[in-house]
Amino acid sequence: MLLFSLLLSLFFLLLLLLRSTARRQGRLPPGSLGLPFIGETLQLISAYKTENPEPFIDDRVARYGPVFTTHLFGEPTVFSADPETNRLILQNEGRLFESSYPGSISNLLGRHSLLLMRGSLHKRMHSLTMSFANNAIIRDHLLLDVDRLVRLNMESWSDRVLLMEESKKITFQLTVKQLMSFDPCEWTENLMKEYMLVIEGFFTIPLPIFSTTYRRAIKARGKVAEALSLVVRDRRREVEVGEIKNDMLAALLDEEGGGGGFSDEEIVDFMLALLVAGYETTSTIMTLAVKFLTEHPLALAQLKDEHEEIKAKRGENEALQWEDYKAMCFTQCVVNETLRVANIISGVFRRAMTDVTIKEGYTIPKGYKVFASLRGVHMDHHHFKDARAFNPWRWQGQQNGLGATSATNMFNPFGGGPRRCPGAELARVELSVFLHRLVTQFSWEATEQDKVVFFPTTRTQKRYPITIRRLKRGVEE
Ligand code: HEM
Ligand SMILES: *[C@@H]1O[C@H](CO)[C@@H](O)[C@H](O)[C@H]1NC(C)=O
Repeated sequence: MLLFSLLLSLFFLLLLLLRSTARRQGRLPPGSLGLPFIGETLQLISAYKTENPEPFIDDRVARYGPVFTTHLFGEPTVFSADPETNRLILQNEGRLFESSYPGSISNLLGRHSLLLMRGSLHKRMHSLTMSFANNAIIRDHLLLDVDRLVRLNMESWSDRVLLMEESKKITFQLTVKQLMSFDPCEWTENLMKEYMLVIEGFFTIPLPIFSTTYRRAIKARGKVAEALSLVVRDRRREVEVGEIKNDMLAALLDEEGGGGGFSDEEIVDFMLALLVAGYETTSTIMTLAVKFLTEHPLALAQLKDEHEEIKAKRGENEALQWEDYKAMCFTQCVVNETLRVANIISGVFRRAMTDVTIKEGYTIPKGYKVFASLRGVHMDHHHFKDARAFNPWRWQGQQNGLGATSATNMFNPFGGGPRRCPGAELARVELSVFLHRLVTQFSWEATEQDKVVFFPTTRTQKRYPITIRRLKRGVEE
């Protein structure tokens, strides 16, 4: 009897406790936390390993609405596929939400990478990064480098090309050039090999501790960091004797860090992370653009017309100019549509810094993980007509294919707010130039069916092999 009443009072105490935390936290968005510890992680992963990963989002949006609670990667998480809520999350970076990436990622990136920085340091470094990839820099310098490197690489193509590999080479070489002015050579090739091992490490989430790939990645990271710090040391010496280059590294060495300049470690982390950010993303988007165009011959034909016209105006082997890029109107439709359908970065992770009330009176409790799903919005039929289809023409003219509401909240392949991707314009230019040189020099066929997988990042399984033929003045030889 005593035991019973003890249990009973314990039960009421528990109830009281639960109720008071519930009141303090307000009402969580509806949803299911799935199994203990792993939650719904496995459902998410298996969904993203299929060609059509939408069921994970579709099921839950149908049941609970566009903002729901789930449990991913060891933590309860509020998942938003709602444009308004996403905007709130992205715009209030540093006030209501802060970026929060898993430890496995920060170990690979290094503590001093832009993605992990916060507060005023982040603000300063974000704008420094922007100043090295803004329109003026692209127009006056980077466009030439992109065009030169794209052509250089394409010259060496044989008749069978693994497109994913080739576009990786191009984007890697470009980023190295942009960061520290090196042209492709043996040194950059070796760096790229180590570097690819680091990247593999990102594909081992969510249980990195048990993975040999992850350990190998950490080791490779050490080697890359060593190679980069040698470069930094050499460069410091050059600066002392008055040799100044015009690249990202020069700007970093020139910046006043915490107390009189950044340390080598800070600079290396920063550069390494920039290599990660620009490389996998841009090369995947190049590959997928070609895949979508191959599957949509009408779009390819219209794109080809546009580029033949540009080529005819400029002359056979001339370098592309900024006005050529600006004349690529349909290309920009193809670029946007590829970004929308491919969703390289499916969304961004944040943590609530305080209790945040969102629409319909739901509350995200302080400390909660938040995932703003960009993909969820891009693939929603309410926001994009026939959202799952590749249709570049939807971008022609005002609001074509978009819902009645303004497009600015709907289409965010590069995120938004203070952390919006500083490489957004550069990525567009890289893809446009790549497409220009591809369609004006080659015709191609997909050699094999290649599946696209969406987890942990978007990639093709067989690296998209194609058979190519060189064209002479627009026709096949
Ligand atoms: C198709 C290509 C690309 C896509 C889809 C993409 C997408 C994104 C997204 C969604 C974010 C926001 C992450 C967040 O809010 O947590 C981001 C951040 C970032 N991106 Fe990109 N990106 C691309 C290319 C590039 C390139 C070429 C560069 C290199 C110049 C780059 C450098 C960065 C950096 C440094 C950040 C961190 C910004 C910060 O935290 O302040 N990205 N990117
Ligand atoms: C592509 O999307 C951007 C928003 O990221 C928009 O500003 C631009 O107008 C779009 N381009 C076209 C051709 O619709």
